[in-house]
Amino acid sequence: MTHSNHALVVGVGALDGLGASVARRAAAGGLHVFLAGRTTSKLDAVVAAIAADGGRATAVVTDATDETSVAAAFAAACAGPGRLEFTVFNAGNMTAGRIADMEAHYFETAWRVGCYAGFLVGREAARRMLPAGGTLVFTGASASLRGKAGFGAFAAAKAGLRNLAQALARECGPAGLHVAHVVVDGGIDGDMLKTRMPDFARDAGDRLLDRDGIAAAYWYLHQQPPRAWTFELDLRSRSEPW
Ligand SMILES: NC(=O)c1ccc[n+]([C@@H]2O[C@H](COP(=O)([O-])OP(=O)(O)OC[C@H]3O[C@@H](n4cnc5c(N)ncnc54)[C@H](OP(=O)(O)O)[C@@H]3O)[C@@H](O)[C@H]2O)c1
Repeated sequence: MTHSNHALVVGVGALDGLGASVARRAAAGGLHVFLAGRTTSKLDAVVAAIAADGGRATAVVTDATDETSVAAAFAAACAGPGRLEFTVFNAGNMTAGRIADMEAHYFETAWRVGCYAGFLVGREAARRMLPAGGTLVFTGASASLRGKAGFGAFAAAKAGLRNLAQALARECGPAGLHVAHVVVDGGIDGDMLKTRMPDFARDAGDRLLDRDGIAAAYWYLHQQPPRAWTFELDLRSRSEPW
């Protein structure tokens, strides 16, 4: 009997979210996908959707800001007979607010989810995915490259995550871990915006990015041969002004 290899997606929530789309793409590619998020009911819905598509998925309730919890998620995803070949760090919290009005703990929480959790996941991937090798993709945003007024906490976290990804790519690439960072330059057509910014989501129309299109790009990164690796992709809708 042949066994499929594994994927781990950290930051899976709603079925209409990027994390779920990436997980579904990896499952369609033949991997057994481990879904890490904080909410059992949401993870179970994504597991059911993948099963209905004919794929394999396992929910692992995880807080990506907790060292022990992240280690447990990797332990589950690395348990044989398959090996972990594709990991995605997708947790993020689009924390808006002007710096002068911001509570210190708000900034710290934004950093914990958006950057520190990425360190925990990146470190564990480096420890566990080598020497066999594989792909590790970090989800970025427009804020990875610029600090806009009203988004200082989010931009600080995302810029830190991008630099972490660059350093990890240089440290682990030669040994066989393909580390990539994807700048999602615009709003995603999904549950997060529709729930938190419904007016913006409605008015944005086809400016919003296609989740499955983003997921296809992540999968493309995973398919690249070791002598033609991309570190960074930027993705936007054709009608996004940039
Ligand atoms: N939505 C956008 O317009 C947009 C635009 C550009 C970039 N991005 C980036 O895309 C990623 C998210 O994609 P999405 O917006 O479509 O949302 P998504 O993939 O549906 O959601 C990510 C999920 O991560 C989970 N999460 C949050 N904190 C976590 C933690 N500490 N530990 C484990 N899981 C955690 C949340 O689920 P639970 O609360 O159930 O844990 C959340 O639903 C983020 O990196 C974000 O910065 C989003």
